[in-house]
Amino acid sequence: MARSPKGVTVVDHPLVQHKLTLMRKKDASTKSVRELLREIAALICYEVTRDLPLEMVEIETPLVVMSAPQLAGKKLVFAPILRSGLGMLEGMLELAPSARVAHIGLYRDPATLNCVEYYFKAPTDLADRSVVMIDPMLATGNTAIAAADRLKEAGAKSIRLACLLASPEGLSKFTGHHPDVHVWTAAIDERLNDHGYILPGLGDAGDRMYGTR
Ligand code: URA
Repeated sequence: MARSPKGVTVVDHPLVQHKLTLMRKKDASTKSVRELLREIAALICYEVTRDLPLEMVEIETPLVVMSAPQLAGKKLVFAPILRSGLGMLEGMLELAPSARVAHIGLYRDPATLNCVEYYFKAPTDLADRSVVMIDPMLATGNTAIAAADRLKEAGAKSIRLACLLASPEGLSKFTGHHPDVHVWTAAIDERLNDHGYILPGLGDAGDRMYGTR
């Protein structure tokens, strides 16, 4: 793994880095952006889940009885922040198909710049599960902070954040507010521009995925 700030893991696997470069290109099609993001999400999920606890269970192979490891505890919860978080959800569900899903809809009020919730639906027993928040672009950090606040208010005690790109500003703001939430990202870019976009970045992730503007 690349050297990362405290509380952050940069997933520097060559496949992730190669696919990210393809995604960043301005002429990548919406189809390829969606496919690449799904593939990268699966690879990031592999790292995010690396330390999940295991328990030993007795099973029978066709030849003998053996003690074998299986995931312990309740199923994970993936919590995509709408709408661009949806672009990573399927790739993560490919690796952990039994995970539960919590949808979090937040928008920024243009007048107050506060995050306003318009949708929240999560399993009721969040306190007993590990939650992986999903947001491809950790830009100002405000949305991810509000989403983690909301998940904690709903009972979540163990939260991780999976993203694709992070700005240094967003990372330090997020880890300052939620030091207990570890962040995985494919890259930490240079900075935010005046409009809150990540530079060099890849533009608006939702627009690039869904062909909107
Ligand atoms: N959201 C995006 O989609 N892109 C950015 O660069 C910042 C926030």
